[in-house]
Amino acid sequence: MKAVITSTAKYLPENILNNHDLEKILDTSDEWIRTRTGIRERRILKDPEKATSYMCSEVARKILEQRGISAEDIDLIIVATMSPDMLFPSTACLVQRDIQAMNAWAFDLSGACSGFLYALNAGAQFIAAGTHKKVLVIGGEKMSAVMDYTDRSTCVLFGDGAAGVLLEPGADENHGLLDARLYSDGRGCDNLSMPGGGSLHPTTHETVDRKLHYLQQDGKQVFKSAVVAMADVAVEIMNRNNLAAKDIDFLIPHQANHRIIQATAERMGIDLEKVAINIDRYGNTSAATIPICIAELDEQGKLQTGSNLILVSFGAGYTWGGIYLNWQ
Ligand code: COA
Repeated sequence: MKAVITSTAKYLPENILNNHDLEKILDTSDEWIRTRTGIRERRILKDPEKATSYMCSEVARKILEQRGISAEDIDLIIVATMSPDMLFPSTACLVQRDIQAMNAWAFDLSGACSGFLYALNAGAQFIAAGTHKKVLVIGGEKMSAVMDYTDRSTCVLFGDGAAGVLLEPGADENHGLLDARLYSDGRGCDNLSMPGGGSLHPTTHETVDRKLHYLQQDGKQVFKSAVVAMADVAVEIMNRNNLAAKDIDFLIPHQANHRIIQATAERMGIDLEKVAINIDRYGNTSAATIPICIAELDEQGKLQTGSNLILVSFGAGYTWGGIYLNWQ
């Protein structure tokens, strides 16, 4: 049995932080950020009382409403995030509490910017096994909570947001999640991480002084790996499924850098009109980027029965992968 997406939704905080706002607090420029990354603005969840679970719960409520089902109908909630409300309990349990999905079990999945693809594939396995009928898969991030707003090399890149999908069993074998190739390479772990606050560097005055509670990235190294890995896995998915560029309706790539997105599309031979791009408006929202793109295409009525979608991502770990979806 194949898992199909039966509903999508997104939540973006209202507050906008644009490049000109950043020019006022950092030695940076709108021109540098736009030309090096493609980002013009990003959303920030300003309310200190609200975190990732708040945005994910908003997404879940919208999905339930659109699908016309109640929270008790949900069997499983998976939240992909690298900015959970807290180390434990899981953000997924907080979402379960907020929406009152009392028949579901819930867990977080840590795959950084590839978290949504990992979670989508994991959720689809429960549907394929026939043991679960309704699985909520959500990617949500309050990246602003782990940003050092004095570090121009990282804080200009990321934003907050959440989005998700409902997975259900499809009517036939031709639609839904048709293929997935997911990878990890832990040797990349030092190039993108948040070292503080875990069991290796529990929070102390010293870890805070050393800023270990902020995201740290060697952007150049990550860029080099991401540009190769995303294009390679996209082409691998095409070859495994005998897909030519003309067969693909949309490429939905992780939104870390416009140049990486462009390079992936070029390797696949796909025109940019067929590429979902929102990095200009939201920056890198990590595990939320791909579901936000899916929800936007869905809202715009661009996803038709039979549409072929290729999803590709790259993130900390390293983690990367590709998924081939045929819209139901
Ligand atoms: N504003 C102005 N200048 C900046 C800047 C900013 N916000 N950030 C960095 N710079 C400067 C650097 O200090 C450096 O100056 P120097 O040459 O005097 O040392 C110069 O710009 C070039 O920096 P560099 O890091 O080489 O830029 P880049 O072209 O590699 O772009 C990234 C930086 C972060 C945009 C890019 O490396 C990137 O997108 N990396 C991958 C991110 C990614 O894919 N993550 C995936 C998982 S989330």
